[in-house]
Amino acid sequence: MDDLRSHIVKLREDFTKGTLSETDANKNPDLQFELWLQQAVDSKIEEFQACNLSTVSPQGKPSSRIVYLREFQNNDFFFYTNYNSVKAQHLANNPNACLTFFWPQLERQIRIEGIVEKSTAAQADAYYNNRPYESKIGTWASAQSQQLSSREELEKKVEELKKQFTPETIKRPDFWGGYVLKANYYEFWQGRKSRLHDRICYELINNEWKTKRIAP
Ligand SMILES: Cc1cc2nc3c(=O)[nH]c(=O)nc-3n(C[C@H](O)[C@H](O)[C@H](O)COP(=O)(O)O)c2cc1C
Repeated sequence: MDDLRSHIVKLREDFTKGTLSETDANKNPDLQFELWLQQAVDSKIEEFQACNLSTVSPQGKPSSRIVYLREFQNNDFFFYTNYNSVKAQHLANNPNACLTFFWPQLERQIRIEGIVEKSTAAQADAYYNNRPYESKIGTWASAQSQQLSSREELEKKVEELKKQFTPETIKRPDFWGGYVLKANYYEFWQGRKSRLHDRICYELINNEWKTKRIAP
């Protein structure tokens, strides 16, 4: 235990893999995101589309969890979830949210802030219909973030649902669907030597993206 504590307090990794300058960064943050995402794919980063989603409760208490980014276009970022989950309750009350990606192999972090809306039913259907049958059943079986009496309760429900729905008849439940985060702020972070990291931000002001460098 003491070894672990002294290990984490002494850890000093220097970041040396890249740089990000005002001139390198694309004027359009959506394209800058696409470039870095492509590089994450090319670098074979595991779970590259997993990002941290932060929301805020009606009491002003922040809460974070990982979700998968499933689509993106024109500064819109889509993820799918249960519409009764904690995150959904938060978003219904306060649509401000933040997505954070961390790709350690590239020494990069991206923060994307914005306003979240529900996706259309047609979009949610299209995504749901492409999922494997087991995942579709799982969606029906899970009252996400509500208490279960046991693991067996969940597994029993799955077996019952498999009798109720075949791969041909199963449809998206109304309580599950997509959200789109409409970005109004980005930060691209590239780790540098001696903690002198590069941080380039984009802020949407009067429908125009303004960029600035901020201190590490
Ligand atoms: C790698 C990874 C990917 C995940 N992707 C999703 C996702 O796309 N949608 C989702 O609802 N939960 C996803 N989860 C589970 C969430 O982190 C979380 O446990 C769940 O959504 C309930 O969160 P909430 O109660 O705050 O709403 C993922 C978890 C991990 C570790």
